[in-house]
Amino acid sequence: MKNKNGKKYDIAVIGGAGHVGLPLALVFASKGLKVLIHDINESSMSRIAAGKLPFIEHGAEPLLEKALKEDLLFFSTDPADISSAPALVVTIGTPVDEFHNPVHKAMKECLEPLLPHCSDNTLLVLRSTVFPGTTEWLDNYLKANGKNMHVAFCPERIVQGFAIKELQCLPQIISGTTEKAEKESAALFGMITDKLVPLKPIEAEFAKLFSNAYRYIQFATTNQFYTMTAAAGVDYHNVLEGIKKDYSRAADLPGPGFAAGPCLFKDTMQLAAFSNNQFSLGHAAMLVNEGLVMHMIGTLSKDHELENTTVGLLGMAFKADSDDIRSSLSYKMKKLLKFRVKELLTTDPHVTQDPSLLPADEVVEKSDVLVLCVPHQAYKGLDTKGKPVLDIWGFFRKPRKR
Ligand SMILES: NC(=O)c1ccc[n+]([C@@H]2O[C@H](COP(=O)([O-])OP(=O)(O)OC[C@H]3O[C@@H](n4cnc5c(N)ncnc54)[C@H](O)[C@@H]3O)[C@@H](O)[C@H]2O)c1
Repeated sequence: MKNKNGKKYDIAVIGGAGHVGLPLALVFASKGLKVLIHDINESSMSRIAAGKLPFIEHGAEPLLEKALKEDLLFFSTDPADISSAPALVVTIGTPVDEFHNPVHKAMKECLEPLLPHCSDNTLLVLRSTVFPGTTEWLDNYLKANGKNMHVAFCPERIVQGFAIKELQCLPQIISGTTEKAEKESAALFGMITDKLVPLKPIEAEFAKLFSNAYRYIQFATTNQFYTMTAAAGVDYHNVLEGIKKDYSRAADLPGPGFAAGPCLFKDTMQLAAFSNNQFSLGHAAMLVNEGLVMHMIGTLSKDHELENTTVGLLGMAFKADSDDIRSSLSYKMKKLLKFRVKELLTTDPHVTQDPSLLPADEVVEKSDVLVLCVPHQAYKGLDTKGKPVLDIWGFFRKPRKR
């Protein structure tokens, strides 16, 4: 079927201008598929159509250039344009609300305008992270509304910023509400990897959420160990190095630091909501990871009279070498410190959407004390001019002489 533009697509990525959708769209295009990016964010789509990435995504630029040159990438805000795509992959955001409960209506509101343009043969793949049971619920909802589409859930598990590489080397979990839906999803994701892991939809939903909650708990473990050693006046990084040295069972214990961003916290909270707030490990992890900010402020206040101190925050993105500030704990730190210090200054080499940011040199110059919030590689050569730096990451730490 061709749509009203006369264009025929192999696939439409719904939310395709976002952090998950865009790299996926580019990888599908790199396999020769004609990909429609359907999104409500016109300015991001115009940027992408002009060959510019709206955010840092390593390895994406050449794929974007090639896809545009080969006429494999298309853009639309009009739901009607999806009608000629036999497969839709949904990658919209699936947030939790202010009560830490999932916003169920996001998926429904996204799909409602699209449904009149789908046929019974359309493959509908949910790629966004969803609350357990959502795929089954959607299948029933569609059937109740006279749509017998093939519904699948194939979660995204990339680490943000490295999707182009990881999409093609990570195993892809696939699942479908029917054998046909699973087979079609296998054929689709089989185009980007031969490592497919078939599960039932509910299993795949849990698998995705558990992957993120497990990571979040790992960060909480190391952050709690950090605060324990700090209270004892012990350098945690020496302990960590000692534990990990030639000891494979501790190889995946991460270093301390902010565990934040658009996924780990909210996915842990989705599981908490699912289990009627009985996910005690998840809640404990939240208290530790979110509480790290208060712990750091406590450390600062022990060493400095905060009301007479200018504090500079280095790094406002949610993680190193990223430009994404969504749910960044640097902003929680900023909010809490602002009312306690003489002046608060912030800087980041990658973030572009915060007009209050200053150049790093100026922040160093004007501050009495610095807090390393994000260990961007760009700070490796930063001259901190002998100013004290609160660095829980151990980024500026010199290896211990033995
Ligand atoms: N960011 C990650 O690294 C990552 C990794 C794995 C899974 N996920 C999951 O993937 C999903 C998307 O996350 P993201 O970080 O890409 O979010 P994002 O905000 O970067 O992208 C979402 C995109 O969807 C678009 N959108 C929103 N509503 C829409 C609608 N009704 N119709 C069309 N487009 C719409 C937005 O404009 C945006 O471009 C979430 O469920 C997230 O939990 C994210």
